[in-house]
Amino acid sequence: MSPLDRRTFLSRITVALSVFIAGLVGVPILGNLLAPLFRAPPDGFVEVAKVADFALGVTKLVSIRDQSPLAWAGQTADTALWVRRREDAGPQMFQVFNVNCTHLGCPVNWQASAKIFLCPCHGGVYYADGTVAGGPPPRPLFEREWQVSGDRLLVRQQPLPTVKQG
Ligand code: FES
Repeated sequence: MSPLDRRTFLSRITVALSVFIAGLVGVPILGNLLAPLFRAPPDGFVEVAKVADFALGVTKLVSIRDQSPLAWAGQTADTALWVRRREDAGPQMFQVFNVNCTHLGCPVNWQASAKIFLCPCHGGVYYADGTVAGGPPPRPLFEREWQVSGDRLLVRQQPLPTVKQG
C-alpha cells in the first residue's frame, strides 16, 4: 500500500468513525429534544377545588399541577388559574382563565377593588370577564373548559396556549 493510499484509507476511517460517534451521541439527544413535539397533548379534567370554595361574584387564584408528558417537568408543571364565580348560579356559573397574559405570557393579577386583571409587564388590562380593557394584549385571556362533578370543580388539562384558539 502506497503512503497516499494509506493516508486516504486512514482519512476515510477517521471520517466514518466520527460520523458513527456523532450519531451515537446525537441521535438520543435529538430524540429527547423532538419527542415532546410528537406526543399527544394532555387531555382530560383535573379537580381544582370544591364548588363551595368559590363565593358568588368572587374571582380567586387556584393552583393546579398540569399533566405533563415529561416525567422530569418538576415545578414547571405547577401552574395556576383564575377562577371567576359569576353572580348567577346558571350553567355558566364559572369562568376559568389561564394566569398568562395573552400579550407575552406574564402572569396577570386580579384587582378585586377595581374588578380588573392587570398585567405587570406592559400594563395590559382585562375586564372581569377576561376581555381586553386596554394595553397591548391582542385578545381576551385564554379560558379553560370546566365542568362540575358532584360538589367539585374540574378543569380541562391543556398545554399553555401559544396561538389563537377558537
Ligand atoms: S405581557 Fe402582559 S401586557 Fe405584555
